[in-house]
Amino acid sequence: MHHVGIIGTGSYVPEKVLTNHDLEKMVETSDKWILERTGIRERRIADENETNVTMGRHALERAIKKARIDRTDIEMLIVGTNTTDPTWPSAAGHIAQLLNLRKNIPFFDLQAGCTGFNYSLAMGEQFVKSGQYKTVAVVGSDKLSAITDYEDRNTCVLFGDGAGAVVLQRGDKEGIIRSHLGGAYQSRLALDLRKKGENGHRFMWMDGRKVYAFAKGAMAESCLRVLDPGGMASKEDLCALFNRVDGIVPHQANVRIIHSAAEHLESKVGLPDGAIKKKMIITIEKYGNNSTASIPLALDEAFQEGRLRKGNLVILVGFGAGLTYGANLVRL
Ligand code: UT7
Repeated sequence: MHHVGIIGTGSYVPEKVLTNHDLEKMVETSDKWILERTGIRERRIADENETNVTMGRHALERAIKKARIDRTDIEMLIVGTNTTDPTWPSAAGHIAQLLNLRKNIPFFDLQAGCTGFNYSLAMGEQFVKSGQYKTVAVVGSDKLSAITDYEDRNTCVLFGDGAGAVVLQRGDKEGIIRSHLGGAYQSRLALDLRKKGENGHRFMWMDGRKVYAFAKGAMAESCLRVLDPGGMASKEDLCALFNRVDGIVPHQANVRIIHSAAEHLESKVGLPDGAIKKKMIITIEKYGNNSTASIPLALDEAFQEGRLRKGNLVILVGFGAGLTYGANLVRL
């Protein structure tokens, strides 16, 4: 088995900002409610010419630059996304063409709700670990504003648009150590697309409380499973494992979900209050929930701001429609 490292990260968000105060003029809500219940102040919204393809292209271009490789070094492209329009052919092919990647490489979209980036990273990890490819690009890009109902206050205050990307490469040092992927298809209708109005446009519909309850347990479970895959570690060993983790990059859906998952883990493992919470990288205030983009975007920002550094041990953990969940344990 080969080692597989993240050698470059990149991200992109649209310029247009939609604030809580803007939303106060659109639905019956308030800045106070949104901030207290979700941690979000504003989110970015793509203009009509921007799509998951154009945003993903920018993010990957930046990741390639940071990785200091040539675009023709990429041997496979995986795009985690939920909002390709039209649904096929894939966003991945379009991004490959815009970036003029090598002509014969395999490329595909992977749809796993907001966990799409964790799933895509796990796919890329396998192809590099097995020795089949040396360099694989993974993108998470979503234009959730295209499927958000701006008359529904239960959902429209949460979502935004953006993209993030990483380049994976075979190397000498440990990089992506392990991934855990999970699913709960029995709850698939808790987050759904439903037709509305005469033109039959389909918008996101969500049982927020159900998703919330699922999310905190699922994220905690995935964090445990990447650190202790066999589930055999004692509480003492688990405490030691968590103490070695420098940062956790969670899916940015709701700051309360992130904190509840951390508290859940602290009590399960027996760590003092705040020990895991303080490791959480949180960017939700500025971007809301931009689905598959949220984890690679937060990772890229944390790198740029020096909150995470080369050599750090991090967990990337998410959940989303499907319902799905998953995590990746990575030495940066
Ligand atoms: O990537 C995965 C995507 N989805 C999620 O991550 C969503 C997970 N769920 C959540 O984040 C939370 O459940 C929400 C933020 C959606 C809602 O927060 P909550 O604390 O679970 O609120 P709630 O659903 O229990 O609603 C409390 C009240 C309700 O009023 P009543 O029934 O108590 O009178 C809602 O109608 O808040 C009301 N409400 C709002 N009020 C002002 C719901 N949305 C709003 C709003 N502004 N935007």
